[in-house]
Amino acid sequence: MENSNNQPKKIVYSGIQPTGIITIGNYIGAIDNWLKLQSDYNSIFGIADLHALTVRQNPAEFRARALSFFAQYLAVGIDPAKAIIYFQSHVPEHTELSWLLNCYTYVGEMTRMTQFKDKSKKNEDNINMGLLDYPVLMASDILLYQTDLVPVGIDQKQHLEITRDIATRFNNLYSPTFVVPEAYISKQGEKVYSLQDPTAKMSKSDPDPNASVAIIEDPDSIMRKFKRAVTDCEATVEIREDKPGIMNLLTIMSVMTGESMEALAERYRDGGYAKFKQAVGESVVEKFKPIREEYNRLIQDKAYLMQVAKEGADKARYLARKTVSKVKRKIGLVELK
Ligand code: TYM
Repeated sequence: MENSNNQPKKIVYSGIQPTGIITIGNYIGAIDNWLKLQSDYNSIFGIADLHALTVRQNPAEFRARALSFFAQYLAVGIDPAKAIIYFQSHVPEHTELSWLLNCYTYVGEMTRMTQFKDKSKKNEDNINMGLLDYPVLMASDILLYQTDLVPVGIDQKQHLEITRDIATRFNNLYSPTFVVPEAYISKQGEKVYSLQDPTAKMSKSDPDPNASVAIIEDPDSIMRKFKRAVTDCEATVEIREDKPGIMNLLTIMSVMTGESMEALAERYRDGGYAKFKQAVGESVVEKFKPIREEYNRLIQDKAYLMQVAKEGADKARYLARKTVSKVKRKIGLVELK
């Protein structure tokens, strides 16, 4: 596909692991940008189900959750007429390229990854090879599609850097094979914080249900969580680095409403925290109400979801195969014509 300048459209790739719930953190850090980019780029959004296997999953729950995430991709407004939406596990080239790229990645590079260190601490009884190798699978996701831009939150920056290193290393060893991708990270909302600890990232799998909010959560529950959000013991709503709870709420409300943090801080400055938290909660409820309704409709229509998934997988696979054959040829594997 071409854009109005007759230049081929650039390629955007991103994904979410189907673990826990899709939170407003994932929405603000990643999905919001996907929606902005999908018309001007050839976009590909995967459900990173193979990544989620690095921690133990209950098979029935995992299957249901992956499908639910897929329905949420559609419900937020990712349009299958514009973007390819698919399950990573339906395109075997991801794991194929992953093996090939493993042979161009050093163990030391993987053991240095922050996420590997964090997850190893949390899952001491299950430090499996997948956990160590996770960034190579992620690099494969991205490089398989000759991706130019990867819209993610700041926590994925290190994985993007290693992806670039692997691509550059391969290109230098052989000849240009992979596009070297750039991370696309918005300054505002690059990291949304927990509602219970505004110095920690809002996480999809936080065991404390009050720490995060799902994009398809019911309005009462959303309001309750915002009313309980941890802030500080002052009473003024201000943009100040030493007020992380308030900054987080301002960021959330700003993305929800499109108004600047400054304008919001000005409006709620002296009204007290209760009123401000109520307003933040309402802005979230308002934004996600249509998404929740659309989700409730789509999740009933499994035949449609599977049809979109099948079409997405076919389109993704067509592109993925091209890259894998190119890589195999460069490496010197014998081709079967
Ligand atoms: P995951 O599933 O942990 O998160 C999905 C996306 O949401 C962003 N994000 C956040 N942004 C702002 N504030 C937060 N609190 C927050 N929490 C999460 C993440 O940065 C991410 O963009 N490895 C990836 C999934 C993946 C992927 C890929 C991404 C697999 N293959 C290829 C891009 C390209 C992950 O675990 O994201």
